[in-house]
Amino acid sequence: MDKIRIRGGRSLRGKIPISGAKNAALPLMAASLLSDETLVLRNLPHLADIATMTHLLAQHGVEVSMAGEHPGGGHMGHVLKLRAGAISSTEAPYDIVRKMRASVLVLGPLLARCGQARVSLPGGCAIGTRPVDMHIRGLEALGAEIELDDGYIIAKAPHGLQGGVVVFPRISVGATENLLMAACLAKGEVVLENAAREPEVGDLANCLNRMGARIEGIGGDTLRIQGVDRLGAADYAVLPDRIEAATYAIAAAITGGEVELIGAQPETMEAVLAALSQANVNVQRTECGIRIGGTDAGERNGGVIGIDVTTAPYPGFPTDLQAQMMALMAVADGAAMITETIFENRFQHVPELMRMGADIAVKGATAMVRGSGGPGGSGLHGAPVMATDLRASVSLVLAGLASAGETMINRVYHLDRGYERLEEKLSACGADIVRLTE
Ligand code: UD1
Repeated sequence: MDKIRIRGGRSLRGKIPISGAKNAALPLMAASLLSDETLVLRNLPHLADIATMTHLLAQHGVEVSMAGEHPGGGHMGHVLKLRAGAISSTEAPYDIVRKMRASVLVLGPLLARCGQARVSLPGGCAIGTRPVDMHIRGLEALGAEIELDDGYIIAKAPHGLQGGVVVFPRISVGATENLLMAACLAKGEVVLENAAREPEVGDLANCLNRMGARIEGIGGDTLRIQGVDRLGAADYAVLPDRIEAATYAIAAAITGGEVELIGAQPETMEAVLAALSQANVNVQRTECGIRIGGTDAGERNGGVIGIDVTTAPYPGFPTDLQAQMMALMAVADGAAMITETIFENRFQHVPELMRMGADIAVKGATAMVRGSGGPGGSGLHGAPVMATDLRASVSLVLAGLASAGETMINRVYHLDRGYERLEEKLSACGADIVRLTE
């Protein structure tokens, strides 16, 4: 199994190109099931999760072909053509779904297009139980008949899905996306209330509209969809990854460096940019993206200071950046209180960060981080570590960049699910980071 070795203590300096957003790409790929015409997706990141979704769609009968890369090279994203001319299987098997929870996003499109679907329950996962009850209740509100049998969701809508009102009891990105896709082919009007407002949901809605869907209210918490008989072809570029961009912003801050995030969209990152600013990190919009770190006409002096952060649905502070922020707070000057409100078991990076010297106490959903920063270095030291999920893994990479000595990250496959060419992007800015293949 591959490992990543980091020798910490170097400030990052340079430019980092931001890839297409994984969490937008996955539902967009699933949307190809809704039409028998070709969906061309541009700016897809090259990631293990994208390969898993390709594999799943192929076994539903979708013809997937790589249409080359964006001019300018590997970092600029890949182009996939997806054509679901005929759906050969409406089953999403356990072997694929267990690898990637987002596989459940094929449920809505398959049911809407074919009137039936059999999709494995994703089961537990490292960051909590993550049920799919809201996906199921929502589809039932549109007339689907659903039962659970033998670990599978068996959904039927022999006469098609109907219009209806779905009020989500709490905000769910995946449930909103599944319902949004299903609603496009329903008979009548579907209203989704308390919908997730994440930019990735907006990206999906915009692409569906290009395919001929009639969705209104994009970006808001109420989505109104007038069902249509069929969807057609579209050509769509995936939005830049705000989580990847913010992770590299934190990499710049944690090493006291200065990095420009090329292609990052600051308007999708307001909560995290505000948090970084509050933590005394210089944040500047540029023509090409965002510059993080450095000093701006002497306005900011000194290092990172501790701040309190609470995760919340968009436009709040993303749960997908909680672990990375904790790594930054571990080296800040002063204390920070980090509260996780989205997932119940998302502090698995804490013991690993503590092995690197971080001072963190967890009580319930809150972590108290006493930063080691201030004059005289970060106070963290390298160690062999491993992590159990994607964002936890990258928080250990960030801590490693700020640590004295050598950090060895095990279970690198978590990183490969969500960060395209991580070690390449970081080493281009001066980090001492290498992948060791065993
Ligand atoms: C998506 C993102 C993930 C991110 C999360 C929250 C993708 C591929 N993944 O995951 O990176 O961390 O949003 O921003 O886009 N819940 C229920 N019942 C349901 C569905 C969800 O109780 O039917 C709960 C979950 O357990 C969790 C909360 O709702 O506590 C939010 O989850 P949700 O927004 O659905 O996350 P995902 O879509 O799985």
